[in-house]
Amino acid sequence: MIGEPLWRIWMSVPLLCLFACCGSSYSSLVDTSYGDAGMGETILVVYGTRAGSTAEVADVVGRILAEGGVRVDVKPVGSVKNLDGYSAVVIGTAIRAGKVKSDVLNFVKNCASELRRMPVAVFVVCMTMKDDTPENRKTVGAYLDPVREWIDPVEVGLFAGKMDYARLGFFARFAVQHVVKVPEGDVRNWSLIEDWSRNLRARLVTKNGGS
Ligand SMILES: Cc1cc2nc3c(=O)[nH]c(=O)nc-3n(C[C@H](O)[C@H](O)[C@H](O)COP(=O)(O)O)c2cc1C
Repeated sequence: MIGEPLWRIWMSVPLLCLFACCGSSYSSLVDTSYGDAGMGETILVVYGTRAGSTAEVADVVGRILAEGGVRVDVKPVGSVKNLDGYSAVVIGTAIRAGKVKSDVLNFVKNCASELRRMPVAVFVVCMTMKDDTPENRKTVGAYLDPVREWIDPVEVGLFAGKMDYARLGFFARFAVQHVVKVPEGDVRNWSLIEDWSRNLRARLVTKNGGS
């Protein structure tokens, strides 16, 4: 089990924080759309990832949202410059060293005034949620405090993620393997993610149904 204290110890060591921020060799970005243009509202699912697992979660969130009869764009955060044409936004972020990804936080800051005018949901993908306990929910919920300074999400999803050493750079891999000793594994709960997405529709779709 990955104890939260272990993450905290790790985070308290600056060198390891540096390891956490540097060195990820894997990049697999999902940039796709679901539903037809002209279906009315368009929802943006925007995400920040380092090792790809959050991109795959964002893809599922987008697909399920679109089943409600809306158009959904799923995009990496770096490719979104403004929110023109979107009626709602879902923001997904991986967690590293106890923080949301900096590109995601920058996106929130830069687009805060637009985001405050529409429904916004946020989801987090991290290994602490492998054990879905009230304590871990509190810890992971607090990772979003910097985001909440800018926006007030209508829904928040806290999801377990994936640890795949092959997707990490040398330093990050060394840190998780030998310092924090996080075992490999894909602990994403797809039915939980799908249910969350299905329930989210009604919170995001304001005009044209969204069953
Ligand atoms: C260097 C590094 C640091 C991490 N720090 C944390 C952390 O502080 N808390 C946590 O719950 N998970 C942490 N994780 C686990 C990731 O959040 C998890 O593997 C997630 O699925 C990664 O998302 P991504 O594949 O989209 O990058 C860390 C993973 C790595 C590789």
